[in-house]
Amino acid sequence: MYKGIILAGGRGSRLFPITLSTSKQLLPIYDKPMIYYPLSVLMTAGIKDILIIVNPNDLENYENLLGDGSQLGISISYKVQPSPDGLAQSFILGETFIGSSNVCLILGDNIFFGENFSNHLERGINRTKGATIFSYHVNNPEDFGVVEFDGDRVVNIEEKPNKPKSNHAVTGIYFYDNDVIEIAKNLKPSSRGELEITDVNKTYLDRNELYLEKMNREFAWLDTGTYDSLIAAGQFIHMIEKRQGLKVACLEEISFSKGWIGSEEMLKQANKFKSTSYGRYILNLLEER
Ligand code: TTP
Repeated sequence: MYKGIILAGGRGSRLFPITLSTSKQLLPIYDKPMIYYPLSVLMTAGIKDILIIVNPNDLENYENLLGDGSQLGISISYKVQPSPDGLAQSFILGETFIGSSNVCLILGDNIFFGENFSNHLERGINRTKGATIFSYHVNNPEDFGVVEFDGDRVVNIEEKPNKPKSNHAVTGIYFYDNDVIEIAKNLKPSSRGELEITDVNKTYLDRNELYLEKMNREFAWLDTGTYDSLIAAGQFIHMIEKRQGLKVACLEEISFSKGWIGSEEMLKQANKFKSTSYGRYILNLLEER
């Protein structure tokens, strides 16, 4: 069984002054807070038990936004990360939460959109041993963890290399077996003082237990960490939703379609948001049934 962790802490320094007094993952991506998107990914993967890791000052805001998750038929709990000491710290902070389960980590500022995503996720979920990571062809691999290949075989992963060996960046969703807790505990901070997720992935690679899923070019993986990528992501979601008349990352829709909440809860949520297209969308879903 997989539990889910969303990392929603971090400095957000590339968005200063916007993020001086608020969490990046609470900023809007068109019609909903950023964190809805990674949360929708975990829910789509069928993960119902979720830990959100936040900065000390933001805890109350996240609790006000998402509560205990019962309105979505899921369980949400929270853990404070005292300082942004790296992505791999999630597994140490989340040790009690993870217990003896496997765990899917998703970054709170990553947006995934595209066909076949559920199939990709299923391959991660169905793998009970080892690690599954996802790569995406990008223009600026030097800003990410980069996969080095020998033919189709992954031979190395380098964190933000000056001279990337490929254009395949490691995206912000990762599936791990329970060993990840011990692996994280044994990591040494990198030269930038962080526990690096790339070092976790390299440990699995050394064990011959790292599986890579390549996301194809029809897929969209958006990062939202800079002024330009933040607004571009908002415009992308706006365009898709206007064109299709369907919402991306409507959490209530996912819960409803999975049978995690019923009509009564849907109506309650629709009424809460009734002055918006988000609320009317939920109401329409109910009426269409
Ligand atoms: P980054 O975008 O690498 O870092 P950041 O959000 O602190 O932003 P900046 O580089 O502008 O200062 O983080 C990726 C995601 O992981 C993001 O959603 C924040 C989250 N994160 C944590 O929750 N804890 C951490 O210790 C780190 C490093 C990141």
